[in-house]
Formats: sequence, C-alpha cells, structure tokens
Amino acid sequence: MNTRFLDACWGKPVDRVPVWLMRQAGRYLPDYMRVRSKCTFLELCKTPELAAEVTIQPVDILGVDAAILFSDILTPIEPMGMELDFTPGPVFSKPIRTMADVEALKIPKMETDVPYVLDAVKLLRKELAAKVPLIGFGGAPFTLACYMVEGKGSKDFAALKKMMYAEPEVYAALMDKITTMDMEYLNAQIAAGAQAIQIFDTWGGMLSPSDYERYVLPYTQRLINGLNRTNVPVIHFVKGAGTMLEIVKQAGGDVMGLDWHVNLGKARDVLGDMAVQGNLDPTVLFAPKEIIEREVKRVLDENAGRPGLIFNLGHGILPTVPPENAIFMVDCVHRLTQK
Ligand code: CP3
Repeated sequence: MNTRFLDACWGKPVDRVPVWLMRQAGRYLPDYMRVRSKCTFLELCKTPELAAEVTIQPVDILGVDAAILFSDILTPIEPMGMELDFTPGPVFSKPIRTMADVEALKIPKMETDVPYVLDAVKLLRKELAAKVPLIGFGGAPFTLACYMVEGKGSKDFAALKKMMYAEPEVYAALMDKITTMDMEYLNAQIAAGAQAIQIFDTWGGMLSPSDYERYVLPYTQRLINGLNRTNVPVIHFVKGAGTMLEIVKQAGGDVMGLDWHVNLGKARDVLGDMAVQGNLDPTVLFAPKEIIEREVKRVLDENAGRPGLIFNLGHGILPTVPPENAIFMVDCVHRLTQK
C-alpha cells in the first residue's frame, strides 16, 4: 500500500510529494464515459460495483496517490426528503424556503438510506488494498445549504443569502440539521473504511470573512469536532478562502485545501505547520506540456520543501481536459520531487 498521501496529511516526510486531482473520476476520461453511457449519473452513484470501477479508473490511468469515492456531495440530501435530479447540474424540484420546509427534512439512517455509499466504500477498501488509500467526502453544511435553498447552481446563491440575513432562525435551523446529517454521514463512511475525509465548501468563499465567521464557521467546526477521526485526517477545502485562512483554520481540519488564487508559500506562512493541499489552476491542464511543467514547478517552489504538501488542482478537473495532460501533470509532481 502506497501511504505517502496519508503520511503527507500528518506532516510526515515522504519519498515524493503525493498527488491526486479533485473530481479525478469523470467525463474527461473515455473509460468513465463508457460506464456512464449505460446509466444515469445517480444510477452510477447508487451501484457500488460501478461506483467502485470509476473510482479506481484514475488510480490506474493517472498513477495518483489516493482514490476518492465516486459519489456526489448531494447524494445524502435525497433521503432527507428532497427530490434530486442531475441535468447535468443538480436540481431540487422543491427547494427549502420556510421553517416548515426545514422541519419536514429527515435525518437519514445511513445504513438503510444510503447503503450503496457504504457498500462502495467497503468494496473499494478490498479492491484498493494493494494500491492507495481511499478518501471519503461530503459537502460542508454551507455549500449543501446553497443548493438546498437555491434548488440549483447559481452565481450568487441569492435565495440562500437572503434567508441567512433576513430569516436567521430558519437559516440556523437548516444549518443545524444539515450539520447533524453530515456528521452521521461522514462517520458512517469512516466506519465503513474511509481512510481520510475531504469536506468540500465550494461556496464558503463567497462570504466576507466576518460573515464566514458568523454564519459558516460554527457549523463546520461542530461537524469536524464530531467526526471519529483518530487516524483519519480531515481535509477542509473552502474555495475562495485565501484572504481568511486563519479563520477557516479554526474549523479544526488537519489539511487545508487551497485554490489557485493564493500563493501556496504565503498561505503556508499564515497556516503555520498545518498541512496543505493544492493548488494548480485547473485550466493549466489545457496548456502545452512545458507550461504544465513550469506551473507544477512554481507551486513546488512556493512550497520550498516543507513537509505536509499534497499536490492537487485548486478545484475540480474540467471535463474537456485531455487525459494525457493530467497523466503528464501527475508524472511531473513525482519526477520533480523524487528523493
Ligand atoms: O472527485 C471525484 O472524482 C469524486 C466524485 C465527485 C463528484 N462530485 C462527481 C460528479 C465529487 C467529489 C463531487 C463533489 C461535488 N459535487 C461538489 C464539490 C466540489 C466542486 O466541484 O465544487 C459540488 C459543488 C457538487 C455538485 C455537483 N455535482 C455539480 C455542480 C455538478 C454539475 C457540474 C458537473 O461537473 O457536471 C455535479 C455532477 C457531477 N458530480 C458529475 C460528476 C462526475 C458529472 C455528472 C455526469 O457524469 O453527468
């Protein structure tokens, strides 16, 4: 078993810098499209054998140092009682708008309501045993609330922000319920065998630092605090958090995920000895190979040899990236850091 990803999460020395890619299983891979052409995205998430197959594809094709469970942050929201569709972006036909809507939300029983997620984790641990560690994941309460209140993706999530400012008690009740669900969901993944957990807060960075501290931090903090995380590192990725890293750090994760708007070296100066993950601009994977190599080297230079680095993109890989460029990027990281 290749342990350099887990070692780096704990800040231990490694033979070469570990690397994986957010959204590494997906449409840029012809092998994924072959599986995906036979079923819907949700059917793929709900069939453990298929979910496991597409989880392992990037491990074999790219040579990455970790696998991430194939699912979606919105999978556990459906059994809370919200009808979910992907077109391909997520759509909830009846978004949450009132206290009555919040009260009607259920806390799923993970073993019976999302058995396919836990079965996929168990299956993957067997299939990955001689390969790489398995990362489980969930959305941060705030990003989940964004989709649940808006009903779909959005540039500004105005419906959610309106609730947050104008109906703080509805917002608080919703966030509280999501946090409880999330804690049980992630603990169920850990119990099933997930070896690390990543929390995706894709939209947390659209708030001012003071609003993040008031409206988001207490919930993510409670979530991370409630995880059974002995020996299971928690990676906390808040996109757009470059100007408020010292606040986000208070949430208590072990590894800070960084997007590409921040200089990785300067972020590390702010974060002290906390491990970091990131932070190549995902569009660099459209560039010629010499530019990809130059940009990988720049990020590594910013890190300046400090332990506790997991190389990644600063957000998910884009569906039109040529797979050979992703393979080349992974190889660059390994080649340039080999001890
Ligand atoms: O990283 C991985 O390889 C694991 C799989 C994974 C998916 N979604 C599969 C997926 C992970 C970790 C996610 C997280 C996720 N999902 C986030 C947080 C990270 C981020 O990218 O910001 C968010 C916000 C979502 C919600 C979501 N799911 C959106 C906005 C979309 C549509 C955009 C798109 O890429 O199509 C999805 C659909 C989705 N999730 C797909 C995949 C592979 C595409 C569905 C398809 O195959 O048609």
